[in-house]
Amino acid sequence: MKDSALTAAVYDGFMAVFEPFLMKKWRRELWSRVEPSRILEAGVGTGLNVPFYRKEYDITALDVNEHFLERARRRARGKSIDAEFIAADVRDIPFSDNTFDSAVTTFLFCQLHDPVKGLEELKRVLKPGGRLLLLEHVKPQGRLENLVSSLSGPIYRLTGEHIAQDTDIYAEEAGFAKVSARPLLMNVVKIIEAEKPAS
Ligand SMILES: C[S@@+](CC[C@H](N)C(=O)[O-])C[C@H]1O[C@@H](n2cnc3c(N)ncnc32)[C@H](O)[C@@H]1O
Repeated sequence: MKDSALTAAVYDGFMAVFEPFLMKKWRRELWSRVEPSRILEAGVGTGLNVPFYRKEYDITALDVNEHFLERARRRARGKSIDAEFIAADVRDIPFSDNTFDSAVTTFLFCQLHDPVKGLEELKRVLKPGGRLLLLEHVKPQGRLENLVSSLSGPIYRLTGEHIAQDTDIYAEEAGFAKVSARPLLMNVVKIIEAEKPAS
């Protein structure tokens, strides 16, 4: 996604159409599974998850896009949320191994051509037993699989979005344990949970 104030504003405008109906409900469900602890949100974007941050969270949020981060910081200030927002790539997270209790992403992995690398990095910075919680749109199984697969090339060329990611499978490839996926919206969107193995 282009790093510009205009792209950030367009993103928020576009999402405002979908947030009240679908997204808000899914975000609430995802965050209801996050326990108060040291949390990393990767690909925070313009901060559409900020309304779900609880005061008890110790939260660090990262994104590669400075203009998106600026909106996220503003959202947090508006809600008197004390979180740290940093410019960083999920594939090269500037924290030591075993730092966080939970890692959360929403609609990040459709942006990465090398999602396993991002997941391996999230695993590295999670403590043993730490939890991964993702809300992502993925390649569906069943009736929609062929349709989504055939649209994925043109949509990638048009928007740069990978709409047919197997993110739950990539989490296993990255070495996460106890990977479970709860399908939402006809399998096209999933909440994926996993755990960093204890050793
Ligand atoms: C589709 S937006 C989702 C934003 C937000 N999580 C949400 O739910 O509205 C994807 C976000 O991932 C960010 N992003 C893309 N590649 C990234 C990377 N390698 N590391 C960190 N953030 C990245 C983009 O800048 C953008 O803010």
